[in-house]
Amino acid sequence: MSPTPNSALRPIIIDTDPGQDDAIAILAALASPELEVLGITAVAGNVPLELTARNALILVELADRPEVPVFAGCDRPLRRDLVTAEHVHGKTGIDGADLPDPVTALQTQHAVDWIAETLVAAGEREITICPVGPMTNVATVLETAPETARHIREIVCMGGGFFGGGNTTPTAEFNVFVDPDAAEIVLHCGAPVTMLPLDVTHKALMTDAWINQVRGLGTRTGAAAAGMLDFYERFDVDKYGTFGGPLHDPNVIAYLLRPDLYRGRHCNVEVETDSPLTLGMTVVDWWDVTDRPPNCQFITEVDSDGFYELLLTLLARLP
Ligand code: RIB
Ligand code: CA
Repeated sequence: MSPTPNSALRPIIIDTDPGQDDAIAILAALASPELEVLGITAVAGNVPLELTARNALILVELADRPEVPVFAGCDRPLRRDLVTAEHVHGKTGIDGADLPDPVTALQTQHAVDWIAETLVAAGEREITICPVGPMTNVATVLETAPETARHIREIVCMGGGFFGGGNTTPTAEFNVFVDPDAAEIVLHCGAPVTMLPLDVTHKALMTDAWINQVRGLGTRTGAAAAGMLDFYERFDVDKYGTFGGPLHDPNVIAYLLRPDLYRGRHCNVEVETDSPLTLGMTVVDWWDVTDRPPNCQFITEVDSDGFYELLLTLLARLP
């Protein structure tokens, strides 16, 4: 049974592969009084599906929102083998959190079926979908039920990278690299697409001071979030030699709540789905040099201080 969206709030679906950064995005969304999280759909990505689904349950319980339904979706990309990222996120996917096993059960319905049913039950352009992992679930909905696209208000995804290259290969960002075919389907589905790529997420790096402010909230959420972030940022700090790591996925939620913190351009974005050398590359026609029609709001700038102030305010609302 799909809940009827509350018209005063913005109804969203979070499609995710938790992942410590996914975790902060989920917590921020659950804390926001402006968003109605209709459900959370897990996808294979950072870690296998069994763990991403389990982690999503852990997070709705951490936020004391066990009524938010969690669904398991696709356990592998559309047409490729699964690539995971335990070297970044740890064996569980949310290492550093030290949280109890979930007691809430997963929904029995497949995530793809629930997303399609929820979209069709809603009005035109009503529901926002927030993919923050490989876009396999969303692409499967769009492939099997293309008519659902007109019920999507906007797809706001974390993925891609252009001016700064990739983080998984020299040219590809992880979410798009894992399932490039899915990303290409999303970009051509006809619903408005906004992409928050590495080009923007790498301009808002965490600081130890901010993580300590999160820990200083004195709540179980603050302790768990700070523990996850301490673990998670080590990889990027070591790799890039920066003072802090990027917090990719929460940019999607921050963009929904404070689009004024962001700048980008509506342009054509295509995905390389064949070349072994550049598989998963998001090719951005930033200077409009092709006749390919614009299909994506590609975000490249963020007010970092505003982003982290917003996140801290939201996390402070949780127990
Ligand atoms: O490239 C960053 C993305 O890949 C984030 O969504 C992170 O959680 C991983 O899924
Ligand atoms: Ca993710």
